[in-house]
Amino acid sequence: MHTNADKKTTATPPVHRELDVETIRADFPILNERVNGHPLVYLDSAASSQKPRSVINALLEYYRRDNANIHRGLHTLAERATGAYEHTRTHIAKFINADEPEEIVLTRGTTEAINLLAYTWGEQNIGEGDEIVVTEMEHHANFVPWYQLAQRKGAIIRRIPITVCGHLDLSDIDTIINSRTKLVTVVHMSNVLGTINPIAEIAAKAKKHGAIVVSDGAQAAPAMPIDVKDLGVDFYAFSSHKMLGPTGVGVLYGKRHLLEAMPPFNFGGEMIQEVRFDKVTWAELPHKFEAGTPNIADVVAFDAALHYLEDLGMENIHRYERDLTAYAIERLSELPGLEIQGPRETEQRGAAVSFTDPDIHPHDISTFLDSHGIAIRAGHHCAQPLMRVLGKVATARASFYVYNDRSEVDTLVEALKDMRKYFCL
Ligand code: ALA
Repeated sequence: MHTNADKKTTATPPVHRELDVETIRADFPILNERVNGHPLVYLDSAASSQKPRSVINALLEYYRRDNANIHRGLHTLAERATGAYEHTRTHIAKFINADEPEEIVLTRGTTEAINLLAYTWGEQNIGEGDEIVVTEMEHHANFVPWYQLAQRKGAIIRRIPITVCGHLDLSDIDTIINSRTKLVTVVHMSNVLGTINPIAEIAAKAKKHGAIVVSDGAQAAPAMPIDVKDLGVDFYAFSSHKMLGPTGVGVLYGKRHLLEAMPPFNFGGEMIQEVRFDKVTWAELPHKFEAGTPNIADVVAFDAALHYLEDLGMENIHRYERDLTAYAIERLSELPGLEIQGPRETEQRGAAVSFTDPDIHPHDISTFLDSHGIAIRAGHHCAQPLMRVLGKVATARASFYVYNDRSEVDTLVEALKDMRKYFCL
């Protein structure tokens, strides 16, 4: 398939098209690397995805041709840089079906987006005895900011448990979400279990009690079509670097009336309307939340990543990942004693596959695989509360994206077999 990712206009998303992984791989220079004498097998995209040439070029071109500060200068380069930065904001709004670009706040990442929310909406709206609902499968980024807020305010954290199969257990949801609930925040796709959660269903429950709904889309936004209206969320956070874009760019989507009512997060240049010695007023959305010089170049290059994904088609990506994940689960299941976490069926599952070996620590698995050129993540995956629920200190995790194929799953499985021999098991 021809990705034609450099073009500047958004193509009509293709439907029901197979991904041509060979062509895609040719767009990612890093995949030609050799690691420890082996061809790189990159199975750590849930931590950070690789970048296609179009994104790398967009970054270089920005610095070569357009670089200037934005929203300030009246000269040509300043106008070009401002236009490119705001163009990405508009593109993001379309990508997730937000009503308008003003509902898109650009941050450093998902973590900063959620902290922004906790320090602004949270400070303003959460009080003593109020309840904040999270799930047992949250990444620390969508738990610690709320925990800290609850500590400051005397609020209560309640949690939606998980089933043994790694889904959310919604059997008690009408007790967990109740008239004291002010906020419900749920990860859209677990970075450990791969589970895709029923956000719309949970949002409907929250809305019955007038609670605000937040979703952490760091893993879901790279992997499937996102429509914030269909999800029924008030806020949605995600990061560029997990979806082929540069690091240092995050998105906080928020409904306009909520963003307008929130106080600013950081204070300084750009976020003001007027400053006097005795009075300061705030800029209009979204600039009220973007103090100082932002990460201009990386935001500009994120646009190329969105084009690349749209050209492939988010539905096609989702379907491809499901197939590859099903194959990975099937092949990993051949290994004696290997325990796979999360749902087996791939209908409600994304491409992060965590596993443990009964005899070998996940860190040793990762180190062994690295010596074969295979990159995975091992550890608690910034989800220590979930690890406690699973009864693990750590897992190994292989995660797949558009440039991975079945042969790489085979390479992983063969290396895991070799590993057991190496450890005399
Ligand atoms: N959240 C990223 C991961 O799961 C860093 O690896």
